[in-house]
Amino acid sequence: MASTNHIINDKPLTTIPGSYGHPFFGAIKDRHDFFYHQGRDQFFAAKIKKYNSTVIRTNMPPGPFISSNPRVVALLDAISFPILFDNSKVEKRNVLDGTFMPTTAFTGGYRVCAYLDTDEPAHAALKTFFISTIAKRKELFLPLFQNTLAECFTEIENNLSSAKTATASLNDAVSSASFNFMFRLLCNNKDPAETKLGSEGPKLFDTWLLFQLAPLATLGLPKIFNYIEDFLIRTVPFPALFAKSSYNKLHEAFSANAGKLLEEAEKAGIERNEAIHNIIFMAGFNAYGGLKNQFPTLMKWVGLGGEKLHKEIAAEVRSIVKEEGGITLKGLERMALVKSIVYEAMRIEPAVPYQYAKAREDIIVNSHDNSFEIKKGEMIFGYQPFATKDSRIFEKAEEFVARRFVGEDGEKLLKYVVWSNGRETEEPAPENKQCPGKNLVILLCRVFLVEFFLRYDTFEFTYKNIVLGPNVTITSLTKASSTF
Ligand code: HEM
Repeated sequence: MASTNHIINDKPLTTIPGSYGHPFFGAIKDRHDFFYHQGRDQFFAAKIKKYNSTVIRTNMPPGPFISSNPRVVALLDAISFPILFDNSKVEKRNVLDGTFMPTTAFTGGYRVCAYLDTDEPAHAALKTFFISTIAKRKELFLPLFQNTLAECFTEIENNLSSAKTATASLNDAVSSASFNFMFRLLCNNKDPAETKLGSEGPKLFDTWLLFQLAPLATLGLPKIFNYIEDFLIRTVPFPALFAKSSYNKLHEAFSANAGKLLEEAEKAGIERNEAIHNIIFMAGFNAYGGLKNQFPTLMKWVGLGGEKLHKEIAAEVRSIVKEEGGITLKGLERMALVKSIVYEAMRIEPAVPYQYAKAREDIIVNSHDNSFEIKKGEMIFGYQPFATKDSRIFEKAEEFVARRFVGEDGEKLLKYVVWSNGRETEEPAPENKQCPGKNLVILLCRVFLVEFFLRYDTFEFTYKNIVLGPNVTITSLTKASSTF
């Protein structure tokens, strides 16, 4: 641990340990360790051990030549992490993807909402528009998602019973469900299959996302391909041209069907062209990109919980649905186990694990034991899984504890659940950068579990952790033995 001078908030002010190494070779070494030699958890764990500190200096990928400056101060515990939510102290301009930003040619030439800082007036205007868009459509959430899930489970069952596959990709089924739900929600309940998109929507978004996010990914190929992969995807950014035809098809479909929403945007003072690119980004990057990974993550942990847990969920779900005479918001609120499981999945494996911000001024950040000074303009990086698996906050932090958030004591821990770029106990607002889909996402995850355990008693599966979350394959489904 480096030198200590003053005491701040009872914590010694300590120099931030860690080193960046040579500007070029140091960054390349860190990125090879991160992706190939150690893997991301071990990369940070090794540095915590080496420097005996949870606030450290390191380079973050992609580095040369995509990011001009890969140097960050990494926050790796639950106490220091929330400085990233204090918008008076940190700036979130162009940092959505970290130390680089894909060209705005991916988004019609606009810097869309998620790249704007709270000090930019356009952020408040667009965020207010999104918050009200979601609020105005809240009556649609339940019926729309229930219909979408009916199709999703039929697809899974068909694949399972098909002699050809005999297994079903959960990821493929929930990708379509996430896309269809968002498209219908934003486009006046229009079925995307009845537009020029047909069933291609998810693939078009995947292509567009891939070219923006490739520098942060690895395909997990055999070792001999590592350096080739690294060179190909992290040396120069992919031009937006590669995704242009996919994006244009999406643009056409959203423009043709989101008329009502575009009128709402114009009434809110947002110019039509800026609105449509923002709507597509929200639907495709923020919402589809998050949800399509969220459901497999949820089902991976529920699956690992085993048959006993499945029985308990089914019992809770079926008794409350029976009492309420169907799936209702009130009933969902009463499902203590279902609610806790959704929070626990988001705690143990947050869908968006990296958060970035720049210090607006010289700031002091506290960890459990020390305080540190971060200088104005320095990039701050939070590795969320280490904040939400902090063993000084959560008992058995590395384990999936289904009932962790049940009861008064459990609920006290919700302030440490931060998947939405803010605390679970706080709300998205025009003046912060918290996800405006926060409550919708939680609702959809609960409904997913409810619909699943109304239909099935249990399931078997295999999974593989891939680029941005687990790839889950369902190998068997046991139909519900009791009805409600
Ligand atoms: C599981 C699904 C989702 C996850 C994990 C997720 C996560 C996040 C996170 C971490 C951020 C902040 C990024 C940052 O600045 O560092 C964010 C921002 C945002 N999310 Fe979500 N989100 C999800 C779903 C949604 C949905 C369904 C919507 C809309 C219906 C949405 C709309 C947005 C928007 C517009 C922003 C930018 C907010 C701002 O600039 O102030 N997200 N989301």
